[in-house]
Amino acid sequence: MKKVFVTGGCGFIGCHMVERLLADNNKVVVLDDLSTGSVDNLKDHPNLEVIIGSVLDNELVVKASQGCDLVIHMASYVGMKLVYSKPEQSYNVSKIGTENVLKATGNTPILLFSTSAVYGLSATEEVSESNVISLERARTYDGPVRSYSAGKWELEQLGHKAMDEGRKVMIIRPFNVIGDRQSAAYGMVVPNFIKNCKTGNPITIYDDGEQSRSFSCVKKFTTTLSTLIQSEDVWSKPNNIINIGSNHILTINKLARIIKSKMDSSSPIEYLPYDTVFPNKKDVRHRFPDTRLLTKLMGDVDWPTIEEIIDELLVEATITV
Ligand SMILES: NC(=O)c1ccc[n+]([C@@H]2O[C@H](COP(=O)([O-])OP(=O)(O)OC[C@H]3O[C@@H](n4cnc5c(N)ncnc54)[C@H](O)[C@@H]3O)[C@@H](O)[C@H]2O)c1
Repeated sequence: MKKVFVTGGCGFIGCHMVERLLADNNKVVVLDDLSTGSVDNLKDHPNLEVIIGSVLDNELVVKASQGCDLVIHMASYVGMKLVYSKPEQSYNVSKIGTENVLKATGNTPILLFSTSAVYGLSATEEVSESNVISLERARTYDGPVRSYSAGKWELEQLGHKAMDEGRKVMIIRPFNVIGDRQSAAYGMVVPNFIKNCKTGNPITIYDDGEQSRSFSCVKKFTTTLSTLIQSEDVWSKPNNIINIGSNHILTINKLARIIKSKMDSSSPIEYLPYDTVFPNKKDVRHRFPDTRLLTKLMGDVDWPTIEEIIDELLVEATITV
């Protein structure tokens, strides 16, 4: 049995990851400040300890992480609405929080959650780990004020440094993970569309809706991660920055139509220019992962389609609104 220290474990991906780790017979210690997560996302378990507090509290991070064999660091300010309203906090949680977690946990193997947002706005459609990511490129996602993407870029640099000093580090870049217990409160598209279909409010699409994305099922995402963690190859260069995301690509217009039709909803579809909602920012036009490295490391991942994910979500009906 391993002891795994998980930051941000009360959040959406966090709670699924914690469930996976417990099912794999690990002991788990979660540190979460509940800024967007909730203890209700996690069921009591004899091998689970939840500590409420921030990764910005150095002393607490040292105490909470004592004796761990693996660190999974995903505490972050996520979601456009939150990031846009608190850019500096978003940057700091990633930069200072990651510094604290790396320092507190010595030479323990660490999995760092970055984001596909580091590819910025200017990327080619399919983005690859071999792309060189400068801070300037990452910051095109943030707009004029450094925030989420710049913070994650800093997280990656801290990860590289630790790796150069001999530590086992894996950096992953998730692409639009969705599923049950994802909150609609911070601007995530799928829970918002579902919420609006439920309430009969308009489904609001930014820009013309022809921007494209790939959406990845959280359960497949966490089992993928669990396989990667157990693979020795992944913990060494050049394999340790990994895009994780589905190969099913669709436009936001199509996503809205699928959800509306599956929910048999009468909600009208409305369009708003992105910068009326987030002034001085632009939306990423097309974003999906080159997953050749992931395939090389673990074979093809059989990602559920958006229809399959939505069907399961509507049965589980646990989108938090
Ligand atoms: N959901 C996605 O599609 C997606 C895409 C790319 C990257 N990611 C990354 O995955 C990770 C998890 O994201 P999520 O979608 O589950 O978001 P989430 O908001 O549900 O989870 C983040 C968790 O971090 C906690 N947290 C925030 N600040 C903290 C702090 N200072 N100290 C301790 N805990 C803190 C929150 O309370 C929350 O529980 C994040 O690192 C995010 O950047 C997610």
